Amino acid sequence: MSRKNSTPLGADATSIWLLLLIFSASVSDSIGEDLLGVCYGELGQDLPPISTTIKLLKELHADAVRLYDANPSVLTALRGTGIGVIVSVLDSELQDFAQNPTTAVLWVQKYVSPFYPSTRITYIAVGNEILSPGTVDEYGPHLVPAMWNLYHALAGRRLQDHIKVVAPVSGDILGTSWPPSKGAFSQLNYIHPLLRFLEYTKSKFFINVYPYYAHRMNPVQVPLDYAVFLKTEPEFKDPITGLPYYNLFDAMIDATYSAMLDIGITKVGVAVGETGWPTAGGYAASARTAKLYIRNLIQHVQRGGTPNRPKERVPVFLFSLYNENEKIGPDTEKNWGIFYPNATKVYDVDLDPVTSDL
Ligand SMILES: *[C@@H]1O[C@H](CO)[C@@H](O)[C@H](O)[C@H]1NC(C)=O
Repeated sequence: MSRKNSTPLGADATSIWLLLLIFSASVSDSIGEDLLGVCYGELGQDLPPISTTIKLLKELHADAVRLYDANPSVLTALRGTGIGVIVSVLDSELQDFAQNPTTAVLWVQKYVSPFYPSTRITYIAVGNEILSPGTVDEYGPHLVPAMWNLYHALAGRRLQDHIKVVAPVSGDILGTSWPPSKGAFSQLNYIHPLLRFLEYTKSKFFINVYPYYAHRMNPVQVPLDYAVFLKTEPEFKDPITGLPYYNLFDAMIDATYSAMLDIGITKVGVAVGETGWPTAGGYAASARTAKLYIRNLIQHVQRGGTPNRPKERVPVFLFSLYNENEKIGPDTEKNWGIFYPNATKVYDVDLDPVTSDL
């Protein structure tokens, strides 16, 4: 403090200003720094307006938001908020993107250029869980060609280092996930070119990770305390590496690293495109358990990486912002939200408890 006062005011102000400039430039230019985001699913007919949504994202201290489309009014509303944004290309658009480079060029022109950088778009997600059984036959062949066309469209505007193209896959892409050191992919004919694309373009591998489903399907082998980060003793030690595992999340992420290594991919980081816990409507679904899972997960990823990559932090997108009453399937499907549609919290959570405590 006293040192500052002894500096001539002008010089001090200038250097602070410069520092701020450098700092903000490096922040807005860097992607993949966002650790905790929220998925903004919009399959509910009673959801609040975007202005409320942005207020809630800020209240949560979300670093980033994942959109499942590229709605210009949402992108406009996110201007100047500093919130990182994943925009998405729909599954149904993939074939066109794959076959027509112009489609990708026009899309970037319409949904990216008018908004970036004031809307801090960080990723373009191509479809969601395309390589899963229901969609792989129809869309799988178009996935990586569509990604290349988007990459070239971004490169045409010199945006390829700022906005990365990704393809979030379902956790079921891991044909083998135990032990973590033996992780292996299914759908290799698609996953291999996908990972080569991600490696070449210095992008990230987005995988959706749902310990909830593992626990629901197999509560004996996947006990609740192992699924929600409550174990104080290791659930098991990997028989090959000897590394201890306290939670399923880590085991799944390390299985993903192993599966990549298995096909020679060593430089691609992992991000979780969706994870969460339902609060009602089925087995083990409650606000109390959801709060445990989400809070412990947040602390866990803030603290560091996995047993296999302790220093590599894994960015995570929580599913989801709102309960969505138009989602089809079992009742749990409608109850993944942190918020009710009336904008009150289903359970209390803060995505950056460290900062908010200061
Ligand atoms: C919001 O909706 C939930 C669920 O319907 C309800 O329990 C809660 O009382 C509502 N809160 C307000 C402030 O309306």
